[in-house]
Order: sequence, then structure tokens, then C-alpha cells
Amino acid sequence: MAIVWTQDLSVGVNSIDKQHQQLFKMADELFEAGKNGKSRELVGELLSFLDAYTKQHFSDEEAYMKSINYPGLAEQQTAHKNFIAELAKLKASYDTSGGNIAVIIGANQMVVDWLTKHISGMDKKIGAHA
Ligand SMILES: [Fe+2]
Repeated sequence: MAIVWTQDLSVGVNSIDKQHQQLFKMADELFEAGKNGKSRELVGELLSFLDAYTKQHFSDEEAYMKSINYPGLAEQQTAHKNFIAELAKLKASYDTSGGNIAVIIGANQMVVDWLTKHISGMDKKIGAHA
């Protein structure tokens, strides 16, 4: 099943929504590549892209929160840091497992579950504040 961003995940800030859509797209590409038995190199590369894009997104989102004096910034920063640590663990287990597909499928589940929960529970409040 494809991993897709849906309208109910909109936080009401266009720049943030666009990046969230891109994150879902990248997670989907990663999932498809893993599922279709693409090379370990390609899957590893997609995982690195997702990691880099996530960091960029968090940094942009935090800058936006600062610009509107968002009161929940510290809480968001902690959540973002934790997720980056989770991603690093995934990358490490993908590398040490020698590119195991189960790791990738589990990774995607974790990424999508986290994003969905984080966007619904925390990011939506940013849009509501602005
Ligand atoms: Fe966030």
C-alpha cells in the first residue's frame, strides 16, 4: 500500500504542508524500493535522503515557529531530536543487517506512524497558533 499524505494532515501552513508531502513521498519511494528488492546501495541512499530531508524540514519548521513566537517550540525541538535519533538507529540497523528488507519495512512503519502522530498531535497546533 502506498504511503500518501492526505488532506486531513494539513497543518494550515503551506510551506510546512509541502515539506510533509515530500517526506511522505520519500518514505513511499523507500518502501517501494525495499519491497521491490532494489539494491542495497539504492535503498541505503534513499534512507540517507530521507534522513537529510527530515533534518532540513525540522530546521525550517523550527525557524517558522520562532518567527511566530510559537510557545511550544522547546517541546517540538525535543520531539524532533528524538526522531532524528530513531532514524540514526534505523540507518545503523539497516547497515549492520546487510540491507535486510524487514528492517526497511519496519523503518517505514515507524516513520509513517511517527509522522502521522506528530503532525496530528503537535504540528497542527502550529497552524492553529498562527
Ligand atoms: Fe514538528
